[in-house]
Amino acid sequence: MKSNLIRVMLAVIMISSSILTGCTSNSSQSRIIPVETPARPDGQKDVLGLRLPPIDTIRVGIIGLGMRGEDAVYRYTNLPGVEIKALCDLHQERADSCQRFLRAAGMPEADTYAGSENAWKAVCERPDINLIYICTDWIDHAPMMLYAMEHGKNVACEVPAALTMQEIWDVVNTAERTQLHCMMLENCVYDFFEMTTLNMAQHGVFGELMHVEGGYLHCLEPYWPEYDDDWRMKYNKAHRGDIYPTHGMGPACQLLNIHRGDRMKTLVSMDTKAVTLPQYLKDVRGDTASVANGDHTMTMIRTEQGKSMLIQHGTATPRPYSRLYELTGTKGFAQKYPRPGYSINSHSFVSDAVRDSLTQAYRSPILTADLEENARRVGGHGGMDFIMDYRLVYCLHHGLPLDMDVYDLAEWCCISPLSALSLENDFAPVEVPDFTRGNWNKIQGFSYAFE
Ligand SMILES: NC(=O)c1ccc[n+]([C@@H]2O[C@H](COP(=O)([O-])OP(=O)(O)OC[C@H]3O[C@@H](n4cnc5c(N)ncnc54)[C@H](O)[C@@H]3O)[C@@H](O)[C@H]2O)c1
Repeated sequence: MKSNLIRVMLAVIMISSSILTGCTSNSSQSRIIPVETPARPDGQKDVLGLRLPPIDTIRVGIIGLGMRGEDAVYRYTNLPGVEIKALCDLHQERADSCQRFLRAAGMPEADTYAGSENAWKAVCERPDINLIYICTDWIDHAPMMLYAMEHGKNVACEVPAALTMQEIWDVVNTAERTQLHCMMLENCVYDFFEMTTLNMAQHGVFGELMHVEGGYLHCLEPYWPEYDDDWRMKYNKAHRGDIYPTHGMGPACQLLNIHRGDRMKTLVSMDTKAVTLPQYLKDVRGDTASVANGDHTMTMIRTEQGKSMLIQHGTATPRPYSRLYELTGTKGFAQKYPRPGYSINSHSFVSDAVRDSLTQAYRSPILTADLEENARRVGGHGGMDFIMDYRLVYCLHHGLPLDMDVYDLAEWCCISPLSALSLENDFAPVEVPDFTRGNWNKIQGFSYAFE
C-alpha cells in the first residue's frame, strides 16, 4: 500500500516535471539526426580481416602524378617485389617526368597514359596490374576506386578517399561484393610517435583510454597556387565542414579500436565563419567569391563504449602545424604537439630521458631496424609514407589482412559529410552509421598482421 503510494507520487512528479520542461524521457534521442544504413545486399559478406592469396609481384598502376603522386612513384622504386607498369596523369609531361625514378632504380620504363579525363580507365582494365594506386584530386577518388575494383584490382587511394555518404557506401558495397582490398592511404598512422604511443596504449600504459584528439591544422597559403586547376580552393569554396578529417581520425580511431570493439555513435560539429580565405582570395587574386568552409571546424564524437573524440580542421589561418594527436587515459596522457610528451599517473610530463626510454621500450612491432633505416633514407613526411607503402606491399606479398580496411576508410571519411550535416542543422547531433553493419565487435582490438 505504502509502496504503491510512493510509485503514484513518483509518477506525478515525473509527469509534472516533463510538462514544465517540455521534455519526454526519450527527447535526447529524438534530437539526433538519423543517417541511413543501407541493408547489406543478399549474398554479400563483410571484408573484416580479408585475406587474399599471396601476390609474388605487385604490379602497380599509379594514377595522378602531381605533388603527391610523383613522391609515390619514387617510393615504389624503393620497394622490393614491385613493378611499376603504368603511370597516368592528365598531363603527359608529368607521366614522362616520373620515368626518371624508374630509370634511376634500373627498372623498365612504365607505359604512360595521359591526355584525357578518362585515360585512367585503360590502366584499370589492364589484366597484368594487381594494384591501382590513386593520387589524384578528391573528386575522382571514389569513381576510380569503384572502377578499379569492378575490374578485379586491389586499390589504394589517397586521402580523403570518398566525399559523400553515397560514395562511401558504394565503396564499402563494392569492396564486399568483389572481396578485394580497398585501402585509404592514411600515412599519419605510421608516424613514429603515433606508432609508439599506440603500442604503449595497447600495453595499458595509459590505463583505459577515455578521450582522444586529432586534426589537421595546417596553413596551406604557400600551397594554394600549386594544386592542379585550383581543385583544393574550389572545394573549400563550395563545402562547409571538416573536409580533410582523415589525418586526425586515423590515429585516433586506431587508439579507440573503432570497429574492433567500439564504434562511433554520435557526432556534433561547430565551425567559425570564413574570414581568412575570402581575404586571401581578394588580396591575392582579386576574387570576391564567398567561401563555404569556415576558418576552423571542430567535431566531437561519442562512441558506443562511452569514449569521446575531438577532431579539428583548419587550413586557412596562419599558425604552427599540428595534427593535435592527444590522448587521455585513466592512468596517463600523451600529446604530440607542440612538443611530444607523456605523463603517467602524474600532473607533469615525464622527463625527456624517461620519454626517450619509453620510446625505445615501446617501439612499434612493425618497426624493424631495416624498415626504420629505409624509411628515413627514402623519406616521405619523415618516413611515414614509406612505412605505409611498405606495409601495404608486405601484406599483399604475404596474403595478410591490410592494416587499414574499407571500414576504416568509411569511418575516417564520413566525418566530412556528417560534420556538414551537423553544421547545416544548427550544430545538431548526427548519428554515425555502423559501416560494418553489426560486426563492429567481431574483431577485438587493432593489430598488425605478420607472416
Ligand atoms: N597523405 C598526405 O600526407 C598527403 C599530402 C598531400 C596530398 N595528399 C593527397 O594526395 C592527393 C593529390 O594531391 P596533390 O597535392 O598531389 O595534388 P596535385 O594537384 O599536385 O596533383 C593532382 C594530380 O592529379 C592529376 N589528375 C587529376 N584528375 C586526373 C584524372 N582524371 N586522370 C589522371 N590524373 C588526374 C592532375 O593532373 C595532377 O597532376 C589528394 O588526395 C591530397 O589530399 C595527401
